[in-house]
Amino acid sequence: MKIGIIGCGNISETYFKSQNLFNNFKVIACADINIEAAKTSAKKFGIQYQSVEQILANSEIDLIVNLTIPSAHKEIILKTLNSNKHSFSEKPLAMSFKEGSEIKNLAIEKGLEVGCAPDTFLGAAGQKARELIDQNTIGYPKLGSFNIMSHGMEHWHPNPDFFFKPGAGPVFDLGVYYITQLVNLLGPVNNIISTSSTAQKERIITSKPRSGEKIIVETPTTLMGVLEFNNSTKIQYFCSWDVWKHMHNNIEIYGLEGSMILPDPNFFGGNLLISKKDEKWETVNTESMLLGVPNQDDHGVMRANYRGIGLSDMISNINNKVIPRCSIDLSLHTLEIMEGILTAAKTKQKYILKSSCDQPKLLSETEINKLKIN
Ligand SMILES: NC(=O)c1ccc[n+]([C@@H]2O[C@H](COP(=O)([O-])OP(=O)(O)OC[C@H]3O[C@@H](n4cnc5c(N)ncnc54)[C@H](O)[C@@H]3O)[C@@H](O)[C@H]2O)c1
Repeated sequence: MKIGIIGCGNISETYFKSQNLFNNFKVIACADINIEAAKTSAKKFGIQYQSVEQILANSEIDLIVNLTIPSAHKEIILKTLNSNKHSFSEKPLAMSFKEGSEIKNLAIEKGLEVGCAPDTFLGAAGQKARELIDQNTIGYPKLGSFNIMSHGMEHWHPNPDFFFKPGAGPVFDLGVYYITQLVNLLGPVNNIISTSSTAQKERIITSKPRSGEKIIVETPTTLMGVLEFNNSTKIQYFCSWDVWKHMHNNIEIYGLEGSMILPDPNFFGGNLLISKKDEKWETVNTESMLLGVPNQDDHGVMRANYRGIGLSDMISNINNKVIPRCSIDLSLHTLEIMEGILTAAKTKQKYILKSSCDQPKLLSETEINKLKIN
């Protein structure tokens, strides 16, 4: 499939390069509101750059990959659908559940597909964990936790203001990876209990070049609570940018017959730890799986990065008329969970989910082999 990219910022290089990992798409043009950014990417990858209007009107292109900032996602996806093209977007699908629902309605009306990142749950760690849970390795998963804790973004990001404004915060910015992974493992969420806190009303930037400038914090920097899944699993969460140091794991699942610890769901690979009842932890290494082989140097650590598998899977499923794994229903449900965490904290009431989705199908090594360029 011939595709176009709108949004030539930070993450775009990963998508331009993903056409060398998977065999069913080719990027033929790119665009950006900042024409210089589009020109730079076009030159680097030997393709044409166009204005946003031109790329949407380009009749050679069947699908637009949307890599703009979250506040532009809805506008670009709607324009893509109105140009009769499929859309695959970076996360989150939109800024609110209401916006996301508008996207879904238009996609249905137009008979077009909308897919959305993250696709990291399709990596080796997420798929192996899912397989082991489905095989009852730890028994029925009754309880668990996920933890995202650090001391914010103002010490490294050159323009960290947006992290502390509505639409960001630790749940919208990072929670999306954890929640998507948990829906992959356990299915949809039924209800949410939540409480919030903002340790500091102002943050001082310590990164360059704006060191010393103040940020007014406008969204909670800590959210804690419980997600109850339709299958009755209760997952305690702690998402915070108010913590200097901690020793919690990213994701833990407690079944009736044992426990499982998962690696950071922002990545494709990593080891799982499994214990049967109170026996010793056993390590499950996923590096020999197709989407677990480390292929990228991340600040001196080799990691598996196969961003693009969600797009490749969606294209393959459009051709076969099957629902893609990174489906609009999954991303809309995840969006409602994130919004629900904030709403439940604000209203001090349990939030009951309106949306649902099917658990994405397992992605087999045979299916990956058909898509992956070796
Ligand atoms: N950077 C990462 O490591 C990373 C990782 C995973 C996901 N993401 C997601 O990817 C998306 C992009 O992130 P990024 O870090 O590349 O951001 P960025 O700010 O570096 O790039 C975004 C680009 O989109 C362009 N843009 C903004 N509004 C536009 C519009 N209306 N029309 C056309 N172009 C527009 C900007 O000019 C910019 O070049 C975000 O949704 C983010 O959540 C980023």
